[in-house]
Amino acid sequence: MKTTVRVIAGAAQHIEGVPPHSVDLVVTSPPYPMIEMWDGVFGEQDSRILERLAAGRGLEAFEIMHSLLDSVWRECDRVLKPGGMICINIGDATRTVDSNFQLYSNHSQVLRTFFRHGYTALPDILWRKQTNAPNKFLGSGMLPVGAYVTYEHEYILILRKGPRRRFTDSQEKALRRRSAFFWEERNVWFSDIWHDIKGTRQALVDSVTRRRSAAFPLEIAYRLISMFSIQGDVILDPFVGTGTTLRAALACGRSAIGVDIDPSLTPVAMETLISMRRSANTYSRDRLSRHIEFAKRRAVDSGPMKYCNVNYGFPVMTRQETDILLPDVISIARSNAEVVSVEYADSPQLDFDSASMHEMPAYRGSIQTMGQRSELSSSGTGTDSQDDLQLYRS
Ligand SMILES: C[S@@+](CC[C@H](N)C(=O)[O-])C[C@H]1O[C@@H](n2cnc3c(N)ncnc32)[C@H](O)[C@@H]1O
Repeated sequence: MKTTVRVIAGAAQHIEGVPPHSVDLVVTSPPYPMIEMWDGVFGEQDSRILERLAAGRGLEAFEIMHSLLDSVWRECDRVLKPGGMICINIGDATRTVDSNFQLYSNHSQVLRTFFRHGYTALPDILWRKQTNAPNKFLGSGMLPVGAYVTYEHEYILILRKGPRRRFTDSQEKALRRRSAFFWEERNVWFSDIWHDIKGTRQALVDSVTRRRSAAFPLEIAYRLISMFSIQGDVILDPFVGTGTTLRAALACGRSAIGVDIDPSLTPVAMETLISMRRSANTYSRDRLSRHIEFAKRRAVDSGPMKYCNVNYGFPVMTRQETDILLPDVISIARSNAEVVSVEYADSPQLDFDSASMHEMPAYRGSIQTMGQRSELSSSGTGTDSQDDLQLYRS
């Protein structure tokens, strides 16, 4: 499999080079209106914003900032395929303007825009990020009624363009099965509150750049891409910053396009992409190792699982997981100043630590060797049974 990752320096309102209906999934985090660190970026795009803020007219500034974001959402709508999804990480803002402290509800403005475009909103995720900031408790201290609730979450909005995507040809169906996630991952990823993702620790990007760009954690983009696209799909991030979404797309075996108005960030994104082969492959291997640990615990607690993955030979909970094949990057090469080409192996990672599976008493002797895996494929694939769905609900 081959993919490409492209980084464009410029305003996401104008990505005419990206053809209509060419993107399968948008994953992004815009600058948050009314969060002070983004006043300058918004102000440079529309001078009325700084004037309104200076005049203490917070709600007017808020509306103009959202009209700038709206013009990017319009462009996302143009390039997104029917049935494609949009995942937007956005936080609401609390701010005092003209001595009045109030909430500026960014997520509801964004939802309103997408409703106008006819999108279907799906259940969102609350990303719970605890803060230890000294000014965490605001307002009148222990005295009613003027103390304020501490804001420690952000939204991940999930929207769909038109009816559900259909997978019709056999190649797409096979890629979808290969892109499935593990049962135990599903139980965490599709929960409505993510409280297991902390901070923005990313070895690939230095801390100054990360702070300046307000990068989100790689795991957020990685999960969303795995949840709402298949291998070989095209992912767009119109506010790509340091390129977190692009790195996650590369690790997930997807093509990607990232756009950022700050020209100093695009070289950062390109450099980290070029050098991430080892870290991308470690991410996949860690998933495999976590699955093996899960399978071992499950064997001890509840006995053997019913199905076996045809590529790795380890046990899985459901028939839908039998074809999972995590991407393994062979090479990343720069094609030109803004594009990297990526090549992946078509076979499973054989060097990950599968030996530990054999220590499982419940599976000793029952783990399949590579030679035996072809037999499994006939029993392990097929349509999804009621049985599998039952497992999902339990
Ligand atoms: C919250 S940051 C995104 C951080 C990114 N998720 C990461 O992990 O690095 C928002 C980004 O949007 C960019 N931006 C703001 N307005 C833009 C526009 N009109 N077009 C493209 N990028 C824009 C900013 O320069 C900033 O890098």
